[in-house]
Amino acid sequence: MRSKSAFGDPVTARSANTTLSRLIAPLVKPSVFDFWAGHLNPAWSWERPLARVVARHLEAQGTVTLDLKANRHCAAIQPGQHINVSAEVNGRRVTRSYSPTRISRSGKRLSITVKQVDGGKLSQHLCRQTQVGDALEIGPAFGDMTLPPASAPSLFLAAGSGITPLMSLTRALDQVGLTQDLTLVYWARTRAELCFVAELRALAARQPRFKVHFVLTQEAQRLNGEHAERLNADLLATLVPDLAQRRVYACGPADFVDTARSLSLGHALSFVGEAFTPPTLAVTDALGTVRINLALSGRTLEVPTGQALLPALEAQGLSLPSGCRMGICNTCACPKQTGVTQNLLSGDKDDTPTSALRLCVSRACTDLTLDL
Ligand SMILES: Cc1cc2nc3c(=O)[nH]c(=O)nc-3n(C[C@H](O)[C@H](O)[C@H](O)COP(=O)(O)OP(=O)(O)OC[C@H]3O[C@@H](n4cnc5c(N)ncnc54)[C@H](O)[C@@H]3O)c2cc1C
Ligand code: FES
Repeated sequence: MRSKSAFGDPVTARSANTTLSRLIAPLVKPSVFDFWAGHLNPAWSWERPLARVVARHLEAQGTVTLDLKANRHCAAIQPGQHINVSAEVNGRRVTRSYSPTRISRSGKRLSITVKQVDGGKLSQHLCRQTQVGDALEIGPAFGDMTLPPASAPSLFLAAGSGITPLMSLTRALDQVGLTQDLTLVYWARTRAELCFVAELRALAARQPRFKVHFVLTQEAQRLNGEHAERLNADLLATLVPDLAQRRVYACGPADFVDTARSLSLGHALSFVGEAFTPPTLAVTDALGTVRINLALSGRTLEVPTGQALLPALEAQGLSLPSGCRMGICNTCACPKQTGVTQNLLSGDKDDTPTSALRLCVSRACTDLTLDL
């Protein structure tokens, strides 16, 4: 049974939780406390950062926004940053990264906006199964795409679910009165997939410093000044003639961010980009299998050399900590004792021992010994 009234009064709920944990501290283990406290309120925990779903709504076709209330163990999050969100899916804990689209001033209320990916484990679970009252585990915030300097005109380029950190930044800038020019160009395949349209149009109508352009790549008809082209130099010159004076922030699939980077470097004041899709380095070596010795568990597994170590080890049944799965959050890092690995982002090979090999963006070139 869940106690909704206790959660509705945050001060009472927090002090009850704190008093309870202080009183029984010498008597029970944190895991036992969590088990019983979770029956009263799923977000009560001795030490785990949990957030309870307090509302959910359909944001756009195939995309759901979950409003969350964080417990006292959740760390502060800056607009534009990302968090790792974990939930149990079919009896296994699954973790992926999401960028809060709204963060309250206290930092304890936040929203995540999740696009359902075909066959995706956590996005399907969050969009279809997660209900008001459920608790999600929230990791510490990471990412460098935070608020632009107060006086700098900015250009935000968003594609698909790449809108999420840029929406958080747009809302944060609006909260302080938008002291600089801001243009947002937002790509989606169809009009139905666009998020936050009414809010963005309303902001553009009341705030002369803010402009928004929607670009729909697979919509038959264009309305209301919408555009249809993929990101290119001509479109950018038309929509943002003063690019040279702007700081550019881009977020979306890796190829979109790569294009944004090449159009901005040398043509804009600065560039920050973050990709939401995994690296796809073309491996040119002859491929085969190698042995991975797991020093801590004493096991040896055979994995293909053409795949990142994280999915390769997961395919062998290992349950490993992970988050972004593209080399940003460091959650999957583990020590490597011996062997040659290749970084799938840079292409660099490394034969030296390391304390933090990021398994999601590294492949094995030879037999390895890992501290797992
Ligand atoms: C820093 C960061 C922030 C992110 N913020 C958000 C956010 O705010 N909102 C949001 O909806 N998503 C966001 N993502 C993507 C999110 O982390 C997941 O990758 C996505 O929800 C799919 O997870 P899944 O478990 O459903 O799919 P998985 O089970 O991991 O994958 C299923 C299949 O989908 C493919 N796939 C995985 N991710 C994507 C993707 N993003 N697009 C298309 N195909 C994919 C995989 O290659 C695989 O074939 C972010 C990613 C990163 C790295
Ligand atoms: S899972 Fe984030 S760095 Fe590997």
